[in-house]
Amino acid sequence: MRERSSIADVVGEHIQLRNAGGGNLKGLCPFHDEKSPSFNVTPSRGYWYCFGCAEGGDVITFVRKLEHLTFTDAIERLAQRAGIQLRYEQGGYVPGREHGERSRLIEAHKAAAEFYASLLGEAEAAPGRRFLSERGFERVDAEHFGVGYAPEEWDRLARHLQGRGFTPAELIKGGLARDGRRGPVDRFRGRLVWPIRDITGEVIGFGARKLLEGDDGPKYLNTPESPIYKKGSVLYGIDLAKREISKRSQAVVVEGYTDVMACHLAGVPTAVATCGTSFGEEHIKVLRRLLLDQAEFRGEVVFTFDGDSAGQKAALRAFADEQKFVTQTFVAVQPDGLDPCDLRVKQGDGAVRDLIAGREPLFAFAIRSVISRYELESNEGRLAALDAAAPLVAGIKDPALRGRYAVDLDRWLGFMDERMVMRRIQEVGGRTTGGRPGAPERAPRRAARPRPADPADPVVRIESEALKLAVQRPALMGPEFDALGPQAFTLPEHVAMYELLMTAGGTVAGGPGGREWVDLLLRSTEDEDLRAQATRFAVEPVRSDLEGEERYGIAVLARLAEIAVTRALVQIKAKMERLNPVEQQQDYNRLFGELVALEQQRRVLRERAVGA
Ligand code: CTP
Ligand code: MN
Repeated sequence: MRERSSIADVVGEHIQLRNAGGGNLKGLCPFHDEKSPSFNVTPSRGYWYCFGCAEGGDVITFVRKLEHLTFTDAIERLAQRAGIQLRYEQGGYVPGREHGERSRLIEAHKAAAEFYASLLGEAEAAPGRRFLSERGFERVDAEHFGVGYAPEEWDRLARHLQGRGFTPAELIKGGLARDGRRGPVDRFRGRLVWPIRDITGEVIGFGARKLLEGDDGPKYLNTPESPIYKKGSVLYGIDLAKREISKRSQAVVVEGYTDVMACHLAGVPTAVATCGTSFGEEHIKVLRRLLLDQAEFRGEVVFTFDGDSAGQKAALRAFADEQKFVTQTFVAVQPDGLDPCDLRVKQGDGAVRDLIAGREPLFAFAIRSVISRYELESNEGRLAALDAAAPLVAGIKDPALRGRYAVDLDRWLGFMDERMVMRRIQEVGGRTTGGRPGAPERAPRRAARPRPADPADPVVRIESEALKLAVQRPALMGPEFDALGPQAFTLPEHVAMYELLMTAGGTVAGGPGGREWVDLLLRSTEDEDLRAQATRFAVEPVRSDLEGEERYGIAVLARLAEIAVTRALVQIKAKMERLNPVEQQQDYNRLFGELVALEQQRRVLRERAVGA
């Protein structure tokens, strides 16, 4: 396959290649954003290499990486492109018939999707169009997602597909029809249909919503398990979202087809949804493959749940799969229980983006929703809440994290008695996990040790982006950065780095940056750790996932300032909570004024950060 697929041709289909001399070609790297080409192709050796991301390989790795395919899928893709019939050798084989069956079913689904989409404009599809427009979708949106209409007739699709050479057995096997007394009967009738695509963009099934009064079937019908549709791993929207998920190291999991559409249209292009099942192990694997960066799982998975059931679902999620990844799992729930689709209709695109931006760690959300069901005014109520939440905290496997949440739980309940809370958690833990009940307790050491730097933590990331820019492109940071002050940074090593930058005269003194600026920084300290840190910031690529670096610099600064404002807001709110608005009216009003001003400032910064 490597021999039959010229690397220059394959790469050339995706990016513009220019002659780079010496028989080499170069272009803009498809795996990271850049302005000047550092992506090199050597056709004579069949290799590509990007100096920007220091990665390379052959034509197969290129296709795998670009399309997020497994090795076998990449080979099949290249084979298809080269028009080669793959002959698998003995041993590592996939039976030929099955292979043929798969492509037949894919063909049938492609034809079905076209058939449904072509009917959406017809008179009979009026209820479908009404549904879409009530949910804020326009014709172009429906087209973009391939939404269609399944007519209210017994077998219109079946007849259409049979007319195109598909057999009744194929329609039934793929789930497009059921066996009826007089031939195949369409599965979806009188419904709005969403084509469900696999990661490569092939239609493998449909989700169909009830529209008509007389329909007594379920609200949504989905394709049943078939040779091409495995509901345990299907994610609606994955074909559209995969690049952005990799690029942003974030995947957003919503509940429905309309929510995926709403998110993508609102500027959250990383949204996907399961189709009629709950999110499970196989779904995680799919996302993990996209979030995989070298051998390490980075990034975050954000779940949105519908209002009422949110707490319960979050609690289940927290223990559903390997907890190793739970620290990268977040929950975003709209306080008034609106799903992303409703939210977009009622409050616009910005509200959907804010919903995702306001995500909360899974454990925090799960624990807080348990205690929110209790009245916390009395000791009795607070103890009952503690008993209800303790099993959740006890179930956290990582002892350090469990300790942190014990501290949080104590604070949320307002006991100010960490030892008692910890003891309760340990008692529960001993019972449920068969550990030692009454094991010697150790109260968590409050603030004794800072949390370890978590590179997936968005705050940590923004801080380090700003510092990298300050070292590499000081001119992009400038006076605004120099005015931030060390308190704008949370990690001790970031504070140290910021102070080093200031010792060297600030980014204003850095001029155009480059070798001299880095040397000056290195000369400004004796501390070996700090010098190593400075070197790291000098070489680590900036994650600029926005168009221009200048734009990126502005966004990073705005985010950093926004984080500082948010921190101040939290403090003011806590202070206000402790005041009695009637008796301490003056103080209360003053704080309220500050609050409003800060909220205003935050909005401005947020807009600047997203480039509005
Ligand atoms: N779902 C399902 N079967 C059902 C109900 C829901 O499979 N009987 C799944 C579908 O994947 C659907 C998602 O859950 O997309 C969200 O369901 P819901 O919020 O009830 O649907 P909406 O499309 O939001 O409907 P509406 O706006 O009319 O409430
Ligand atoms: Mn919904």
